[in-house]
Amino acid sequence: MMQTYRDLGALRERIGTWKQEGRRIGFVPTMGNLHAGHYALVELARQHCDAVIASIFVNPTQFGPNEDYARYPRTEQRDAEGLADAGTAALFLPSLDVMYPFGAMGCVQMHVPGITDILCGAHRPGHFNGVATVVARLFNMVQPDCAVFGRKDYQQLQVIRYMSEELSFPIEIIPAPTLREASGLAMSSRNQYLSDEERATATAIYRTLESMRAACIAGTPTAKIEQDAEAELQSLGFTVDYAEIRSAMLAPASRAMDKRRVALIAAFLGRTRLIDNLEFEIP
Ligand code: PAF
Repeated sequence: MMQTYRDLGALRERIGTWKQEGRRIGFVPTMGNLHAGHYALVELARQHCDAVIASIFVNPTQFGPNEDYARYPRTEQRDAEGLADAGTAALFLPSLDVMYPFGAMGCVQMHVPGITDILCGAHRPGHFNGVATVVARLFNMVQPDCAVFGRKDYQQLQVIRYMSEELSFPIEIIPAPTLREASGLAMSSRNQYLSDEERATATAIYRTLESMRAACIAGTPTAKIEQDAEAELQSLGFTVDYAEIRSAMLAPASRAMDKRRVALIAAFLGRTRLIDNLEFEIP
């Protein structure tokens, strides 16, 4: 039976008991508005630990001034039912005051250098520092043994890995595979904003990633691959933020230290910003 905690003291008491019993604790942080991809994160966490704690907190510090924090869907009841069905042991629902006792403006902030300024970070200034700020707080509150993050948010995953390693958090970061619809479209809370027509068009993102991978493996110069991908997406009506090939650590492909690569796309369809990526190795 899943228990819900809004109060940090009560949650910590529960966690303390589990730790005394020698249970390994897994953590799945979310902003709610959950879909099958999130429940798969819980499922993966369950494979790595004895008790899964999930959190729902719509984090204001990761929204830009033109991004709609106020209108982000709050679907707490439905999310809680889904998390319980997925086998979550405890749900943490911190209020703004619990998360940011001195206010979001006056909070101690994380700044992860370099990696937060490129790709999505260049288009959403401050976003990843807001993510790092809230994840560091959640890690400190929950003190899990492991935490699961989706590969769909590839750059977010790298930011959290960097922060956790650099700050020596004793938390194993477990990446979860991207869940896709049969069409290849990556599952995302934002897909609900797409019209039927846009949803069909959105499947081009994954197809373009596959073409980028094939061209890279065939030895096509990176600049040409990126130009072709952008042109293809634009011709279909996307407004492209970026279509790039990077090293697995997100350095420019020309500075890659090994054969692992990732193709990444961020593009708008109408007002909806979609991201996706594909990891691969070159021969
Ligand atoms: O990926 C998300 O849902 C959010 O960025 C996260 C990690 C829960 C932090 O608010």
